[in-house]
Amino acid sequence: MFAIERVHGREILDSRGRPTVEVDVFTKAAMGRSSAPSGASTGSAEALEIRDKNDRYHGRGVRKAVNNVNTSIAVALRGLDVRRQRAIDEALLRLDPTKNKHVMGGNAITATSLACARCAANSMGISFYEFLDPHARKLPVPMFNVINGGKHSDSGLAIQEFMIVPRGVRKFSEALRAGSEIYEELGAILEKKYGAGARAVGDEGGYAPRVKTTRDALDAMEKAIKNSGYGKHVVLALDCAASSFYDEKKRTYLVDGKHMARDNLIGYYRELCKSYPIASIEDPLFEQDFGGFAYARKKLGKVLVVGDDLLTTNLTRLQHAVELGSVSALLMKVNQVGTLSEALDAAMFAKGNGLKVIVSHRSGETCDDSIADIAVGIGAELIKAGAPARGERLAKYNRLLRIEEKLGDRAMFLGASAF
Ligand code: PGA
Ligand code: ZN
Repeated sequence: MFAIERVHGREILDSRGRPTVEVDVFTKAAMGRSSAPSGASTGSAEALEIRDKNDRYHGRGVRKAVNNVNTSIAVALRGLDVRRQRAIDEALLRLDPTKNKHVMGGNAITATSLACARCAANSMGISFYEFLDPHARKLPVPMFNVINGGKHSDSGLAIQEFMIVPRGVRKFSEALRAGSEIYEELGAILEKKYGAGARAVGDEGGYAPRVKTTRDALDAMEKAIKNSGYGKHVVLALDCAASSFYDEKKRTYLVDGKHMARDNLIGYYRELCKSYPIASIEDPLFEQDFGGFAYARKKLGKVLVVGDDLLTTNLTRLQHAVELGSVSALLMKVNQVGTLSEALDAAMFAKGNGLKVIVSHRSGETCDDSIADIAVGIGAELIKAGAPARGERLAKYNRLLRIEEKLGDRAMFLGASAF
């Protein structure tokens, strides 16, 4: 019943209309399906997406990666017990032992690894989160990305993600309601101030208004929270993705038209944290500055310092960060590292060292909702899945609503204690 009989990959399109890899895995009992998401502001230590680089889809086709799934990977996995995720992922790593998975492709490996886990759950007749942990009952606090800057829009904002975090409510479903109400109100505020085009959205569904400064964006968000009646129950979070505005030669950062050295930038973040209820800052500095992150963490006090491009869900990089005290939270993205097992190792190490875990989508997504189950399955404190709008983002939030309903009285929402 649980032996893998067939693995089948295909090329589908993601939320940017670009090709990605989808994989179906079959046992006698059931089928499981998943697909690889895709980043725009990727860390340089990430697993490599294989792209065809030919005349199809501006070179972004993934037929080579799909072919790897349908040949080497399918042969290697046939007959394995689908419930043994670790053995499956080890088989994938034997096929591609390279550091950045450029032989099979991170896209082929991620889609396959997740499809196997989903097939295992389906074959056992349980939910994916139950497959990860039968006792799971914790719902993550959502971080809704409501204004998109950086590489995710042409708003002109250097900082990539402006998020609202409803942590002072009792249930996930109430957090989603707060997110939706504030998002709607923010759209009206931006339209009134910046004109009709201000409601246009970026890659993750957040608005992309042509505001002048970071503070303009944060002011609009604060106003939207207040107008919606949530006051102190909703805090703010930033993903700076600072590598995208760092000049390696000059060693300066460019924000709001100002070139700043590292210490000035940290001072600038401190000022922002004094003016606004910012609870978390992701990638405040460029992706190699482990020491700078540790310094920022000291200077930023209680604010969570989150490592995304810095860590790339990579255990070795995470271990280095823990030694130096660089971060207080891990951003977990399965496709940054490749297999589910490797991502779970990173999450476990983070938890073991007292760090928070934020399970995250990518800017290029499909309607695959695996990250919702992963967040619940590992008891992650937080989840980042974009705006509370757009189908591919809502796939994850709506899945969390269903999990909350299924858990009933057992559902546990961390709220403020997630920080
Ligand atoms: P990406 O951005 O998916 O475009 O890499 C997401 C993030 O930086 O968190
Ligand atoms: Zn990020």
